[in-house]
Amino acid sequence: MKCFELQGPDGVEGLRLVDRPTPKPGPGQVLVRIKAATLNYRDLLTVKGGYGSRQKFPLIPVSDGAGLVEAAGAGVREFVPGDRVIGSFFETWIGGEPSAAKMQGALGGAVDGVLAEYRVFPSQALVRTPDHLTDVEAAALPCAALTAWSAVIKLGGVKAGQAILTQGTGGVSIFALQFAKMCGARVIATSSSDAKLERLISLGADATINYTTTPDWGKKARELTRQGVDLVVEVGGVGTLNESIRATRIGGIIAFIGVLAGAPPAELRLPLLVLQQQRLQGITVGSVEDLQAMCDAIDLNKMRPVIDRTFPFDQVSAAFAHMASGAHFGKVAIAVG
Ligand SMILES: NC(=O)c1ccc[n+]([C@@H]2O[C@H](COP(=O)([O-])OP(=O)(O)OC[C@H]3O[C@@H](n4cnc5c(N)ncnc54)[C@H](OP(=O)(O)O)[C@@H]3O)[C@@H](O)[C@H]2O)c1
Repeated sequence: MKCFELQGPDGVEGLRLVDRPTPKPGPGQVLVRIKAATLNYRDLLTVKGGYGSRQKFPLIPVSDGAGLVEAAGAGVREFVPGDRVIGSFFETWIGGEPSAAKMQGALGGAVDGVLAEYRVFPSQALVRTPDHLTDVEAAALPCAALTAWSAVIKLGGVKAGQAILTQGTGGVSIFALQFAKMCGARVIATSSSDAKLERLISLGADATINYTTTPDWGKKARELTRQGVDLVVEVGGVGTLNESIRATRIGGIIAFIGVLAGAPPAELRLPLLVLQQQRLQGITVGSVEDLQAMCDAIDLNKMRPVIDRTFPFDQVSAAFAHMASGAHFGKVAIAVG
């Protein structure tokens, strides 16, 4: 089979298209013909060795893929050849609370990912693709969508009439907007681009703020609500945390997810977080059970992921460069097979 491989933390320049033997499914395993993959910000980091000592080389990068069951190993009853499936981000976190052992098997980091024509998965690490989704749309779900689901639905428990704040127009944030609207919540969405803010409104955002021209966007978000937002989906990290604390109501939640905004300011407003009794909670994607629950909701609501652009398999470097540019809106995809 053809696959992209990295010999070391050499960045996108180190990606090589190579031949490897097509794997065979053992007992309890399923061989999947990968049809599509999508990129996450994390993939820009892992190709540079951003996973530290947990990262293996040589590595097939990229965590998120969807495709068709090609063959099922002995003992597999849930899937037959031809079934459309999505691979879980963690192949070892099937359900329940997270643990170090469950989070060991992260695709495209600690174990090989999906930038390959075929991949073998444990059968419990696969879920069925909702019928209304294309393979490219299905490939958008394992990391970005599940992280947004974990923030908005599992942690946030967002209800109709509540307010959430999303940051920027990358994969996680747009899914967070879509899940919050699915619940009947109010969404305040930010972006650095007025053109992207227009697109957020067409996706259902109730209010938008340009975080470049309004650097005190947290204050603005608080003013737009009665008492502050119930939940911030924090993809900026420490660099945006001060404004997020400002935006959040007393007793509200900040779902701490990303690192996009870089270094922290000179003074973090943690005393304000204490005074406002806010909850700051880290999120790491989710389990296979969570992925299944999210796919059920996506199916029921006929929700469709927002795909920015799909690149052919031989233009993987261009796909990474597009992702790195930040010009995208939603997910950057690769058609694999
Ligand atoms: N903890 C987890 O389990 C988990 C899972 C998935 C992702 N993540 C992390 O979450 C973050 C988002 O991932 P992603 O794949 O959705 O990223 P992405 O698609 O690359 O998001 C890029 C977009 O983020 C926005 N952005 C950049 N800097 C910003 C800032 N300072 N303030 C607000 N928005 C900013 C920009 O939107 P505009 O162009 O509209 O300004 C940019 O286009 C990353 O840090 C990633 O590592 C964590």
